[in-house]
Amino acid sequence: MKSTTHIAAAMALLSGAADAFWRMECHSRLGLARLDPIVEPGEVASHAHVIHGGSNFAEDTTYEDLRDSDCTSCRVTQDTSAYWTPSLHFVYENGTTELVNQVGGMLAYYLLYGENITAFPAGFQMLAGDTRLRNFSGAVPDPEKSLWTAEDKTQHNLGQKALGFNCLNYAKTPEGSMYRHFLPDKEYMDANCADGIRAEIFFPSCWNGKDLDSTNHRDHMKYPDLVNDGTCPEGFETRVPSLFYETIWNTAAYNGVGGQFVWANGDPTGYGYHGDFIMGWEVDFLQSAVDTCTDPSGEIEACPLFNIITEAEAAKCTLKNSVVKALSDDDCAGPADGLCGNVPIQYGPAYASKLNPGGTAPPTSAVSLPASSGAEASTTSIEAVPTLSYKAPTSAVTDKYGGGISVANVNGGDVSVGGERHNTLKTTSSSSTTPAAAIPVVTSAPASVADSESEAGSIIATSTYTSAGTVYEVAIEEVEVYVTVEAAAPARKRYAHAHAHHMHHRRDKEHGLLGRY
Ligand SMILES: *[C@@H]1O[C@H](CO)[C@@H](O)[C@H](O)[C@H]1NC(C)=O
Ligand SMILES: *[C@@H]1O[C@H](CO)[C@@H](O)[C@H](O)[C@H]1NC(C)=O
Ligand SMILES: *[C@@H]1O[C@H](CO)[C@@H](O)[C@H](O)[C@H]1NC(C)=O
Repeated sequence: MKSTTHIAAAMALLSGAADAFWRMECHSRLGLARLDPIVEPGEVASHAHVIHGGSNFAEDTTYEDLRDSDCTSCRVTQDTSAYWTPSLHFVYENGTTELVNQVGGMLAYYLLYGENITAFPAGFQMLAGDTRLRNFSGAVPDPEKSLWTAEDKTQHNLGQKALGFNCLNYAKTPEGSMYRHFLPDKEYMDANCADGIRAEIFFPSCWNGKDLDSTNHRDHMKYPDLVNDGTCPEGFETRVPSLFYETIWNTAAYNGVGGQFVWANGDPTGYGYHGDFIMGWEVDFLQSAVDTCTDPSGEIEACPLFNIITEAEAAKCTLKNSVVKALSDDDCAGPADGLCGNVPIQYGPAYASKLNPGGTAPPTSAVSLPASSGAEASTTSIEAVPTLSYKAPTSAVTDKYGGGISVANVNGGDVSVGGERHNTLKTTSSSSTTPAAAIPVVTSAPASVADSESEAGSIIATSTYTSAGTVYEVAIEEVEVYVTVEAAAPARKRYAHAHAHHMHHRRDKEHGLLGRY
């Protein structure tokens, strides 16, 4: 039996832009550990990350180390880069905390925006996002890009707009990438995000052309003035590939369960979400890939240069050096009495206090869940994490679902059609005083779209992959649908008809598992 599921809208064909990309598939984790060789090199990091890429990842990894990796958890053997982001955890009302299942590993998109794109140089590394942020500057939702002011275009504000927390419901028209810049609250997720949350982060792509890193790991890079596309600031005219990470978390497993989600850095808001990258390609090879791998499908199989391994093969690759001795006592997956590293939850909106690397001491402050996350506020002390041996996480979810294949809106997130957004956006004000509820609520029930199953579409690309002994066929189908677009401006409503091309996944499987990856 075949079923078709919307997974994302691809607007490349709408934009008329000659944007090309490839989607590095990193379906398996290399590990889950308190490691961060960029920000906290040489020691146990303050908080946990999910790590993908070259096996030589460690607390002090360098480019050369990564190049020496025995394997990579991504599917292209020439890519031994390191990719990492904080992990997502669920805190029950009694304070017990556990890792939320990561679905399909992560995808690292190499989007080729701009002209004369230069490969990352050897030794290049960067950070996107700010782990201490707990508030958002700017209108919610984003104004239409053509109306962005100088204020919208400050580097700080572009960086905030570079985050996305996509509420997944495969039965509906997908949300655009980087549409919601905060983690929705639990109640909203329960009601709307039947297939979990896709965390997204877009990296800056304008380089100063000389520094491989900078003191804060950000200053050698800037965003172009539309986050993904647009103009690079003066002094940062060298365009490198635009990196975009997507990671799906099965928050839906906690539907109806009291408690709240929190990122490993103690951030329940999402504003402090961040991503790290250490370049691990051979430079000339990466340059050839940038120049050659421009197939609009983004499929790694469409690039003749790539040596592709199966998902199962990539899954065999795990952290080679589980180096730092203190990490052997960590249990970041839980269930445990709090986040590993004894990271306190910091709600904001003030800039969060700095977390110290190496921490194993008991926390000094109690955390309380906001009333909105459960029937009653509960106050819970986070205790020192229990002593359990480090073990590589299993990838049962990955194996079962074959990975979170999803397609970036390669036009950059806001699905802009005739200047209007594709999704119906309504902003409701939030008046609760509990910190977590201070997150603005965006209601984003998509405009109703004709059921595309009945639409005549043309298959523009297909691929197959094997997972857990099942062969899946992915067909990317181009369909024209009519979408009613409601302007975000609250004062009036405008309607426009828009043509949208949708990506569909079609698969052969007797039950609906894959539709829920
Ligand atoms: C806290 O609640 C969860 C969910 O009901 C349960 O699994 C866990 O064992 C509880 N923890 C403690 C310490 O009682
Ligand atoms: C790209 O390179 C070409 C050839 O060197 C040059 O003419 C053009 O101005 C460059 N474009 C940008 C945006 O730098
Ligand atoms: C929002 O975060 C910034 C840090 O970027 C901080 O300076 C500011 O005080 C915060 N706003 C509030 C209301 O706390």
